[in-house]
Amino acid sequence: MAKVNAGILATGHSYPKGILTNADLEKMVETSDEWITSRTGIKQRRKAAPGEYTSLFAVQAAREAIERARIDPSEIDLLICATVTPDQILPSTGCLVQAELGANNAAAFDIAAACSGFLYGLSMANGLIRTGQARCALVIGAEVLTKYVDYTDRSTCVIFGDGAGAAILGPVDGERGILASRIKSDGRFAEHLYAPGGGTRLGSTAETIARGEHYFKMKGNELFKVAVRSMTDISREVLEQAGKSADEVDLFIPHQANQRITDAVANKLEVDSSRIYSNISMHGNTSSASIPIALDECVEAGRVKEGDLILMASFGGGVTWGGVLVRW
Ligand code: UT7
Repeated sequence: MAKVNAGILATGHSYPKGILTNADLEKMVETSDEWITSRTGIKQRRKAAPGEYTSLFAVQAAREAIERARIDPSEIDLLICATVTPDQILPSTGCLVQAELGANNAAAFDIAAACSGFLYGLSMANGLIRTGQARCALVIGAEVLTKYVDYTDRSTCVIFGDGAGAAILGPVDGERGILASRIKSDGRFAEHLYAPGGGTRLGSTAETIARGEHYFKMKGNELFKVAVRSMTDISREVLEQAGKSADEVDLFIPHQANQRITDAVANKLEVDSSRIYSNISMHGNTSSASIPIALDECVEAGRVKEGDLILMASFGGGVTWGGVLVRW
């Protein structure tokens, strides 16, 4: 039987209209545009309004991808929604998106792998498509992180933004599509980025909420070092798995966590700036949505051509990390 890979057939993205600029943040916490720009590369981020929630953006991004793939939602047999900011605890945001889209023949579920969620989703879709267990997969990364951000904590509130990105995947011949993928995690670093409250351990009581335990806590400086090392190593691993070198990569789309992380990884991999995509100045860190939003922006801008070799690498809370290499 001929070798089959999962190919990315179409993409889409969406984000809130609301914009939070560095100047806005200067009025909220002790920070400056100069500090945020030089330490992170971020100039603005999107922020959901009070009535806006994760599945809203997930559905918009998915509809765009479905339309561009020219498929009917009923053809989707696998729907993976990567998110750490679900609409609600039960059911999964994936199931809520499924209902909204009318993707009634899909198995729908969520993945909670933080910023690596989209690459975790691509890896799973690739495995299920390659083994014939799925034929048409919708993989979404969607977050409304700003509802879990403490806007009195300057070490986290300047970083995060909201949005969603989506991809439709289907079988393609073994020379194209996902050539290699690798996902990893290390729970020993769980408290480097976490929200202690809101679950079965501490619950959501008046006390936990008053103490702000439902908000994200982050050891940014320690994450930084692990992020650079993990994203570099996993990029090398997927390149080696596919028998490719970094020289051959046409486009590197890293998780948009911090411009200095992107620069450090690209420097170690020796990928020059003309081959790196960065949108962190406009979106900040949107966790699982960052890579699919960036990928779709590249597609829309004509930066992705048939036959291009695209390397994606991520790192996030958990900690989790992943790498996916695609021949477009
Ligand atoms: O998405 C994947 C998971 N997340 C990450 O990968 C995040 C990785 N980490 C980072 O991006 C960076 O560590 C941050 C942007 C979060 C922080 O940058 P940093 O260069 O690591 O700063 P730092 O935490 O070492 O803090 C340096 C100084 C401190 O002041 P002192 O102690 O030197 O006086 C902080 O209090 O900067 C201060 N600081 C700020 N100053 C102005 C921290 N946040 C701010 C701020 N504005 N927003």
